[in-house]
Amino acid sequence: MEIINRIPRMMSMGRELKARGKRVGLVPTMGAFHEGHLSLMSRAREMCDTVIASVFVNPTQFGPSDDYERYPRDLARDAELAFTRGVDLIFAPLASEMYADGFSTYVSVEGLSDKLEGASRKGHFRGVTTVVNKLFNIVQPQFAFFGRKDAQQVIVVKRMVQDLAMGIEIVVGPTVREEDGVALSSRNAYLSSEERKAAVVLRKALERGRALYTSGERDTSRLAAAMRSIIEAEPRARIDYVSINDAADLSAPVVISLDRATLLSLAVFIGATRLIDNVVLNGEI
Ligand code: PAJ
Repeated sequence: MEIINRIPRMMSMGRELKARGKRVGLVPTMGAFHEGHLSLMSRAREMCDTVIASVFVNPTQFGPSDDYERYPRDLARDAELAFTRGVDLIFAPLASEMYADGFSTYVSVEGLSDKLEGASRKGHFRGVTTVVNKLFNIVQPQFAFFGRKDAQQVIVVKRMVQDLAMGIEIVVGPTVREEDGVALSSRNAYLSSEERKAAVVLRKALERGRALYTSGERDTSRLAAAMRSIIEAEPRARIDYVSINDAADLSAPVVISLDRATLLSLAVFIGATRLIDNVVLNGEI
């Protein structure tokens, strides 16, 4: 397995693979691999001839008070783990090359980017779509793999690919969870052991929402209130948002419609750490 750092080298490799008719799959990541990332690599391995994982902690998607500086970085460990999943190549560019002096071109998906995560983290999705677009340009994959854990990211990236006719198939992998239901996240490493136990409330609230929906509840304010009350019962938890949205356009219906996929999503601070999770009812994103 090779690690490529420089953009021109990755571009010529991407072009060559394409010319040789290879099915190239890209798994964009910020490193600190866990089973969530690795499951996407395994999926890519099944579907593609060449699997490329990118590792880049993207500064433009972090806000000023976010954890950019302390975000975990360990490329040697990541490379070993990726190797076990049959990844052929890691692309780990330098921030100074991705955002060279004078960089001034951004890609924004309007509307969708301002809701949910975008409302709490201004500019976040502009950073995501800009870097994902650039990674796509450099690698030129046929397939790109994203996790449902970040459902809005999937929705926004799919919109970008469609709107700009990028011709890349977005493959969505399921959320990988710990045994107690907590979604794997690099940020779980910030939790104390007491906080880690408390983090289960995210999943509990979503499961409560799903159970109420299954038993016939369609009123979104009642569903949201039931989910909120579960989180409010946990003293270490503080709600950022609990939201129920149409999974296609992220509009907020008053009543859940049976012929549309619906996204239940939440962001909750456990102590100082902000965690997100979601479930999709009645369809897929
Ligand atoms: P990162 O947070 O490193 O996540 C990389 C990919 O792994 C994303 O597609 C994310 O949804 C997926 N992932 C994370 N946790 C997961 C879990 N528990 N189960 C399944 N998939 C999971 O998302 C990003 O990086 C960045 O925004 C990026 C797309 C790389 C752009 O910088």
